[in-house]
Amino acid sequence: MKVRKAVIPAAGLGTRMLPATKTVPKEMLPMVDKPVIQYIIEEAVASGIEDILIVTNRAKSAMDDYFDYYPELETRLLQAGKEKELIEVRRAADLANIFYVRQKQTKGLGHAIWRAKRFVGDEPFAVLLGDDIMRAEVPVTRQLIAGAEKYGASAVGVQRVSTEAIVKYSSVKISPLEERIYAVSDMNEKPRPEEMFSNYAILGRYVLKSDIFDILENLRPGYGGEIQLTDGLRELCMRDKMIAVDFEGRRYDTGNLNGFLEATIDFALDHKATGPWLRRFIKEKAKQL
Ligand code: G1P
Repeated sequence: MKVRKAVIPAAGLGTRMLPATKTVPKEMLPMVDKPVIQYIIEEAVASGIEDILIVTNRAKSAMDDYFDYYPELETRLLQAGKEKELIEVRRAADLANIFYVRQKQTKGLGHAIWRAKRFVGDEPFAVLLGDDIMRAEVPVTRQLIAGAEKYGASAVGVQRVSTEAIVKYSSVKISPLEERIYAVSDMNEKPRPEEMFSNYAILGRYVLKSDIFDILENLRPGYGGEIQLTDGLRELCMRDKMIAVDFEGRRYDTGNLNGFLEATIDFALDHKATGPWLRRFIKEKAKQL
C-alpha cells in the first residue's frame, strides 16, 4: 500500500477568523514568514506525498497564485541581489505537484473530500485539514501512513482531549492493537459528553482507502446540515479495517484566534531569524504584566 497522493480541503469560509479572512483565505494568513497552507504542504511532502489536490472555492485564488512562479518578482529579486528571498519564493512554487478543484457549494467536509474522487482514482490517499498545523519530529502524516501500511487499513490521527473539548471534534470507539495504535469500530461527529465513545478525538489527519468516495456520494447531511466526513468514516470502519494512530506531536488549530496565536509564538520562538529576539521581548513583557 503506497500513499502518493494527498487532499487538502481548504474551501471553508473562515468565519472564526473574521474580519481578517473576509478577503484573505485563512490558509494564506502568515504564520511567521510563510502562509499556514505551506506548513501543511511541507508535512505532506516530508511524508513522501508527490501529488497534492487542494479543494478550494471562488474566494481562494490567492492560494494558486502563491504556488505559481512570479517571473517579474523573481527578476527583480535577482537584480537586487536578494538571493535568499529568491530561493524561498521559488521553493514554495516547486514544493510538489499541486492541483486544484473547487467545491462550488459549501456543503461540508465530506462533500469537499468527495470532490477529490477523480484526482485520487482507486489509490489510498492522505487527507490533511488546512487549519491544523502539526509540529512533530516524525511528520504526522508519515506516522499515519506507516500504521496504514502495516495493517493494510485506513487510518485516522487521534489524540486524547478533555471531555469538555470533545464536543468540538469527533470521538472514536477504539480497542488497543499496540502502543499508540488502536482498532476503530465506531465514531461520531461533535458528540455531546454523554454520547462520546472515548476521549480520543480525530485531529485533522487521515489516510483513506478510495472506497470512501462511494460512501460519501450517498451520504445524507449530518451534524449542522452538512455532509460530514466522520459519518462517511463511520461507515468505512464498519466495512473494512481502520486504525487510529495516537500520533506524537503538537497540533495547532490555526482556524481560531487563540490557536493561531499559540502557533505563531511557538513557531517564531523556533525560527532562526526571530527566536532570540522574541525570547528577550517576551521576558521583558512578562515583567510588566
Ligand atoms: C473537523 C472534523 C472533526 C475533527 C476536527 C479536527 O471539524 O469534522 O471530525 O475532529 O475537524 O480535526 P471542524 O474543526 O471543521 O469543526
